Amino acid sequence: MAEEFKEIGPGVEIREPTKEKKDGEGGGLKLKREVGLISGITLIIGTMIGSGIFISPKGVLLGSGSIGLTLLVWAGCGLIALGGSISYVELGTSIRMSGAEYAYILKGMGELPAFLFAWTSVIILKPSSVAAIAVAFAEYATQPFFPGCTPPAPIMKLLAVFCIAIILGVNCYSVRWATKLQDIFTAAKLVAVFGLVIIGIAELARGNTKNYANSWEGSETNVGVVALAFYQGLWAYDGWNNLNFATEEVKKPEKNLPRAILIGIPLVTVIYILVNICYFTVLTRQDILDSAAVASTVAARVIGNVPWLVPMFVAFSTFGACNGSAFGGCRLNFVAAREGHLPRLMSMIHRTRLTPMPAMIFQCFVAILFLIPSDFETLINYFSFAAWLFYGATFITLLLLRWKQPDLHRPFKVWIIIPILMVLISAYLVIAPIVQAPTDSLIAAAFIAVGIPLYFVFIKGYYAPQFMIDATESATLYFQRLCLLGETETS
Ligand code: ARG
Repeated sequence: MAEEFKEIGPGVEIREPTKEKKDGEGGGLKLKREVGLISGITLIIGTMIGSGIFISPKGVLLGSGSIGLTLLVWAGCGLIALGGSISYVELGTSIRMSGAEYAYILKGMGELPAFLFAWTSVIILKPSSVAAIAVAFAEYATQPFFPGCTPPAPIMKLLAVFCIAIILGVNCYSVRWATKLQDIFTAAKLVAVFGLVIIGIAELARGNTKNYANSWEGSETNVGVVALAFYQGLWAYDGWNNLNFATEEVKKPEKNLPRAILIGIPLVTVIYILVNICYFTVLTRQDILDSAAVASTVAARVIGNVPWLVPMFVAFSTFGACNGSAFGGCRLNFVAAREGHLPRLMSMIHRTRLTPMPAMIFQCFVAILFLIPSDFETLINYFSFAAWLFYGATFITLLLLRWKQPDLHRPFKVWIIIPILMVLISAYLVIAPIVQAPTDSLIAAAFIAVGIPLYFVFIKGYYAPQFMIDATESATLYFQRLCLLGETETS
């Protein structure tokens, strides 16, 4: 194999094998386009449908007060996800770079805001949602073995680690296997939700509509409390942007990205509303409020006592969502590293398997760290405002790009009112938690702000100590050899 000289620091030269040519072009390696339409859809709906639809109904009901308002909130969250994702179709088809918000903010607003997004997402937002879903997986997977009581915490944590480790293994082994896994688990969860939908329709057809009398009674009138219902619902819809993280791996992205989004999001919205109708048809308001796991209570009422059935499907559902989240999150690490905003090692891929191994390992490692403290969910609450801050920034980016680059090739142009509305909705979802819990939001804001000095020291290279640069380079080289990693082509 040919060798080339590479300078890794002042005066230090090493010989390194030249990059193998894959994909028939360029010098570096590349992630292949493995995601077709079906996998595109499953990467979206299989990430969105996770734990939320089985767990959040109670929270949404608590926040909205009545059945009528609850259904309205679920529909409203669906519209928000749809408005968001339609805007992302324009962004994703005109900026063909993976990394979703990161890529768009980078192109529209510049490096520092993009870095702050990457910093917050890579360290907190992405790994904490992977960890949260893994915990939900562990909760449901252990339920049948501990009827009527909570399983011991160490068992749950170990199982959550196990879930993350399997996902890590498969994703490092092959991108195709990871997408296959996503397809299979999405099919399994669709069986569960369609089961619930059929139960609901059958009960309605039998004339079981008594719970819908006075549907609006008790509706919450305090907007702040209704916002809490929206937060619960939006968690269930979260993941609508997941395919945009992997645009570069989508086959014919100009066609498949819009199709997958425009099929996936409306499908999930309809499913969620129908599943809620099922819950309300079979259970009374009080039943839902008293139940720890709504779907299990429905199954127990209708099918009888099969204690493992629903938990098994919810475990499948959460496992698939965890895989989808990890897949998307890892692409963010990968792209941000390729742009020089994270250690270069994370932009490398395995020479023969062509998987973004270091980016995946890093993400799963941080996710496992999140499992150590007992209540990292509080942390997720701190940061719920940060997520909407960056979504909001992305919608602003869309508007900015329309203004700054009117001639940019846009195969799909969204009706401008939609991103404007999305900016307003994001502003509300950012401001509401600040008003309700200012300290929590302040902590999150401080974390984001810490990214500013980090940017100037490490990314711009001002005052970065030389020994650190050398140490990072040697570590990169060591891992590169150990794991057979190769440099990737830049976008
Ligand atoms: N909607 C999913 C659920 O209900 C959570 C998805 C979080 N993942 C993500 N990539 N945003 O469990």
